[in-house]
Amino acid sequence: MLTNDQLALWDRENFFHPSTHLAQHARGETPSRVIAGGDGVHITDRDGRRMLDAFAGLYCVNVGYGRTEIAEAIAKQAHELAYYHSYVGHGTEASITLAKMILDRAPANMSKVYFGQSGSDANETNIKLVWYYNNIRGLPQKKKIISRWRGYHGSGLMTGSLTGLDLFHKKFDLPLSQVIHTEAPYYLRRADASMSEAQFAQDCADKLEALIQAEGPDTIAAFIGEPILGTGGIVPPPAGYWDAIQKVLKKHDILLIADEVVTGFGRLGTMFGSDHYGITPDIITIAKGLTSAYAPLSGSIVSDKVWKVLEDGTDEYGPIGHGWTYSAHPIGAAAGVANLKLIDELGLVENADKTGAYLNGALKDALAGHPHVAEVRGEGLMAAVELAETKEPFGAFDLARKIGAAVSAAMASQDVIARAMPQGDIIGFAPPLCITEAEVDRVVEVTKRAVESVLS
Ligand SMILES: Cc1ncc(COP(=O)(O)O)c(C=O)c1O
Repeated sequence: MLTNDQLALWDRENFFHPSTHLAQHARGETPSRVIAGGDGVHITDRDGRRMLDAFAGLYCVNVGYGRTEIAEAIAKQAHELAYYHSYVGHGTEASITLAKMILDRAPANMSKVYFGQSGSDANETNIKLVWYYNNIRGLPQKKKIISRWRGYHGSGLMTGSLTGLDLFHKKFDLPLSQVIHTEAPYYLRRADASMSEAQFAQDCADKLEALIQAEGPDTIAAFIGEPILGTGGIVPPPAGYWDAIQKVLKKHDILLIADEVVTGFGRLGTMFGSDHYGITPDIITIAKGLTSAYAPLSGSIVSDKVWKVLEDGTDEYGPIGHGWTYSAHPIGAAAGVANLKLIDELGLVENADKTGAYLNGALKDALAGHPHVAEVRGEGLMAAVELAETKEPFGAFDLARKIGAAVSAAMASQDVIARAMPQGDIIGFAPPLCITEAEVDRVVEVTKRAVESVLS
């Protein structure tokens, strides 16, 4: 068996890690973490150290680690038929069944599912579909996409542009010119502290309207948003936000893409985040929770309205010129079928609702009174603790102090993983949906101790 030192060396010499400080890692200044196993909400590294993963990997291992039902479904599929493509009408029992299972769970106005491998490629597909849709409708000028600052939609050329985080643009020549960004619905960081939540929600919609007017409504094709901002800080929208935004989009014939890569399949205590916030999307992006990350699979769920135009378009222009070799990969599809069954059998959507309320309540009770905790917020099994120099008025810490990262590191030293969100001193929580109240108690206790030790 390879030693840890040997693996760390090979890691530094050969492995190009995503979202990593490349120079520090190559110099060995950041540890190589080699994860070897997992069960329930815990992961275990190669030294046998067991940690409670309160971020479910990258908020994706929704059913928890070590589910043999999914592993067996993957193995069975690999033995019977590891691969066949889905071009020109081909499919497998798993991919056809999964499409049906998704539509049985999706909001009522949805029609078909296109399968990809990642959230990024699903959003790339979505933008191509939106452009195709408007070209078929004879609206070739209607192409720009509006996203939000702090939104996260992937890190491809188009999706990295949609992502409203500077780190994903800087030195990559992004965003592309077809993408524009509007206000993030982030009440804590609003520019005008005198605004009520309702006023701020309306202000976000007014700013969207002003942007559309400035660009020209007939140039705007779609708006993309996560029901609740994820990587940008785990920020639930202010009350009334989605109603106000949807009114503006409807008025200008602008499609709404709900990016449910994180919120799809239960995380907010409802099957979709759209159900939770009364969103009626034209396209929904899904990934992560679709297979609980047991195999890479994503999807674009297309509404009746969009589908009808696409279908008519192929009668006029021929087969749609879009597809990946691995679209609807049978192994991913088999994992998806087993995963969705498990979510139902274990009542995980209900648990996300109930235990999510418990998590959010317990974090508030333990931390809201701390002088450097500006906000404890969340919805379902998503939560964030935002740290600040001053609470009223809100004054962020100097980011160079890396307070969030220090709290997350202090938690890790006590064997609990929470994510230091990339933009701000924000500790993020999104545990597997099977987490129990006793496990939540441990997460909250360790968070409290870490915040106190770093900010004593
Ligand atoms: C809301 C959202 N959309 C898209 C993506 C991109 O997914 P992937 O990393 O699978 O490409 C992510 C990833 O975190 C996400 O959170």
